[in-house]
Amino acid sequence: MRNSRPIHLVLLVAAVAASLTAVVAAQQGVSDDVDGYFSWTRLNPQRNFIESAHPAPKDVYVNDAGAQNALDREFPFAQGTVFVKEVMDDDGLQVAMLPSMRKVADFDPDGNDWQYAMFERQDDGSFSGEWVDVDSDMHAMCSSCHANAADTDYAFLTYMLSPDAAD
Ligand code: HEC
Repeated sequence: MRNSRPIHLVLLVAAVAASLTAVVAAQQGVSDDVDGYFSWTRLNPQRNFIESAHPAPKDVYVNDAGAQNALDREFPFAQGTVFVKEVMDDDGLQVAMLPSMRKVADFDPDGNDWQYAMFERQDDGSFSGEWVDVDSDMHAMCSSCHANAADTDYAFLTYMLSPDAAD
């Protein structure tokens, strides 16, 4: 038993260090279910410079709830899936915005139950934005274009390696 004390101490120190790290790493102004997205599964093998509705350069992350569906291309995505697109500034040095989408049961049956948010970096480095209501103009804009990806449950996934290439 005497030997267990140092181990407890090590665990305590590790726990305190982990919680401090979490505080330091938290991104002010993003919602809890987006915070820490950069430790999720990144779906694009290399940074994506595709010109689209969202400026380049960018990376796309998916949380654990949706990672397997995305990698196996099995649709629809599970409830609780969150995608975050990390869009950098033109120099690729700072995050400029985080367009995000999450799957919420019964939120919008006509739009495959995706809810959308746009978190934008402010001058002080914090983010500003929120998940928007189904009757908002922003929802209509995001959802109407993502409907073009209805075959893959509203997620374009075009930046992933093609399934053929992975074979
Ligand atoms: C005019 C079409 C269009 C509109 C409008 C649009 N998107 Fe997208 N979105 C795309 C395309 C195309 C991709 C995939 C290619 C890429 O990475 O740019 C994408 C990718 C995404 C992704 C990564 C998941 C995926 O679909 O592969 C997120 C998250 C996202 N968009 C959020 C948003 C949000 C939030 C809005 C509204 C503020 C929005 N989008 C509006 C076309 C659009």
